[in-house]
Amino acid sequence: MTQAENRADIGVIGGSGFYELLSGAEQVTVETPYGNPSDTISVGTIGGRHVAFLPRHGRHHQYAPHTINYRANLWALRSLGVRRILAPCAVGSLRRDLGPGTLVIPDQLVDRTSGRVQTFYDEGAVHVSFADPYCGHGRTAVLKAAAEAGSEAHDGGTMVVVEGPRFSTRAESQWFAAAGWTLVNMTGHPEAVLARELGLCYTSIALVTDLDAGIDAHDSVSQEDVFKVFAENTERLRGVILEAVKLLPKERECPCAHVLDGLQLPIDLP
Ligand code: ADE
Repeated sequence: MTQAENRADIGVIGGSGFYELLSGAEQVTVETPYGNPSDTISVGTIGGRHVAFLPRHGRHHQYAPHTINYRANLWALRSLGVRRILAPCAVGSLRRDLGPGTLVIPDQLVDRTSGRVQTFYDEGAVHVSFADPYCGHGRTAVLKAAAEAGSEAHDGGTMVVVEGPRFSTRAESQWFAAAGWTLVNMTGHPEAVLARELGLCYTSIALVTDLDAGIDAHDSVSQEDVFKVFAENTERLRGVILEAVKLLPKERECPCAHVLDGLQLPIDLP
């Protein structure tokens, strides 16, 4: 399939376990000025809403967190008409009371990545507001959706995004926890800021797969455990996303929709 505009208004960026979300899905290949997105994009419907799904790491999980082409992913979704993003992801917990299997809808982010391209605006004076990195209306809808799907989610928390691909040392992890942060992850940045730079609403849906190294005194985090716990909870996350898609308001009345108002953009957005 070739590129087509205005095909979807909601985008889901997540693991390949989310392909089954969509009814009547078609595969759409999207080219962007920033190169190729992680994969072709599946476009279909959920309860009458048009939804695009993009596997963040590629369908064969071929892209490590630091090699994902985040700019191409966000640009491609916007060029299909997407204005709201739901972003499920695996996270380590920095709090013992939020153990594996807990769903958290974070409200803050700390960037500890390095060397990742994190802007579309290399020229001109475009400084977007990022004080509240996640869409408030999206967060409300997802929290309600989780409750309705019988998977109550924890409301709020700070997600620190590390460069990876290695997990944190115990000292790093204890430092993050002492700072009062809640979760640790490798993909939440620059995904969230690039969505904001394109005027998109972005809501992270974090699934705790492990207690991070500084929290669990005995075990260190293993990739095997992370994948296993994520897979065990994919069905539940799918249920939350199905519900959230129905609850997301059709009109956008949140600040994200106006973040680019009055700015002189050096590029034409799709
Ligand atoms: N993703 C899932 N668990 C993680 C952890 N402990 N650290 C960083 N990213 C993660």
